[in-house]
Amino acid sequence: MTERADLRSLRRALLAWYREHRRDLPWRRTSDPYAVWISEVMLQQTRVDTVIPYFDTFLERWPTVEALAAADPDDVRAAWSGLGYYRRARAMLDAAATIARDHRGRLPADLDALRALPGFGRYTAGAVGSIAFGLPTPAVDGNVLRVLARVYGIEGDVTRGDANKRVWARATALADTPDPGDLNQALIELGATVCSWRKPACDACPVRRRCVAFAKGEQATIPPPRVRPEKKRLDVTMLLMLRDDTIVLEQQPEGGLFGGLWCLPMLEGRLEIDGALDEAARRHGFAPSNGAIVAELRRVLTHRHLHVRVVRTTDTPSRVKRPLVRAKLAALSDYGIPTVTTQALRASLSPDELLVAELPDRRSARTRGDRRSLLESEGTC
Ligand code: ADE
Repeated sequence: MTERADLRSLRRALLAWYREHRRDLPWRRTSDPYAVWISEVMLQQTRVDTVIPYFDTFLERWPTVEALAAADPDDVRAAWSGLGYYRRARAMLDAAATIARDHRGRLPADLDALRALPGFGRYTAGAVGSIAFGLPTPAVDGNVLRVLARVYGIEGDVTRGDANKRVWARATALADTPDPGDLNQALIELGATVCSWRKPACDACPVRRRCVAFAKGEQATIPPPRVRPEKKRLDVTMLLMLRDDTIVLEQQPEGGLFGGLWCLPMLEGRLEIDGALDEAARRHGFAPSNGAIVAELRRVLTHRHLHVRVVRTTDTPSRVKRPLVRAKLAALSDYGIPTVTTQALRASLSPDELLVAELPDRRSARTRGDRRSLLESEGTC
């Protein structure tokens, strides 16, 4: 078969399979470029199941670019709470402002203009361009890297260098079709539901007969198993200052861990009670008169193992200054709170207090490939 005929038949097999097997997902029921964009931002590093409820709620609240551009960033943070990777939300707000200002509220149907928007990398621009506007452009995420590495037998680390270029070149050739959005989503869907990392369901694969890795029985080594860098341990002590159903929260500085989000005041290190109270006095000018260690928990973040100790005190300041605020337990859902703070509160509050506290239902956003227990969980920041 010539290369063109080969490409054509591969596309045909992928599209036929996709049209029969694709999951009915909310962002696949709309052709609104804004909705497609929001879905693609949410889906970066985050599982489909997690994204679905966030997507619907978000679009109801901010149904257009203009609405999002006018949104209070704190409200967006609160709505994003639990999805992780909060930097995405910040870039999304910047992009909304740019689109409202420079493109009259419409996402541009042009790849270079999309790429120029904050938060639009090659993948996001390709996904939005192809799905929302039918631009013949590839969208290579982790799923597509795996599928194409196997189909074309591209060996080595496909996340970088020459092997990565070869995957993008194959994806570019495949996307040159009248249905680039479906074609890209077919590759993503195949990777997500059939061509998995560890146990690909090759029997259910529409392209196994042209898959080099399948022919050679090398699905386990193409692509090679990921070697993740060691994560550093980070110890923090959280201060739970609670009285009369009111707690003290601290907004984290932009650019750092949990940037912009509201956490229990965090002190560096695994401190004993006196150390925590002294450190609170040094940082915030308020020294609680009592304290007790009420919880220890761990959370696996993208680059760190976070070890958390919670010190609780009933002695709370009656006035605080930014970045601290006093917040009613019943109003916690008004704040963008990262999952680790929610976990710390769940582990530290009494059953009566938990009844009052407005905490997100989701214990934590599940990111792709994580495995969690209640006190040890994976998150993103
Ligand atoms: N992951 C990234 N984009 C996706 C999409 N459009 N559908 C399902 N999963 C995705």
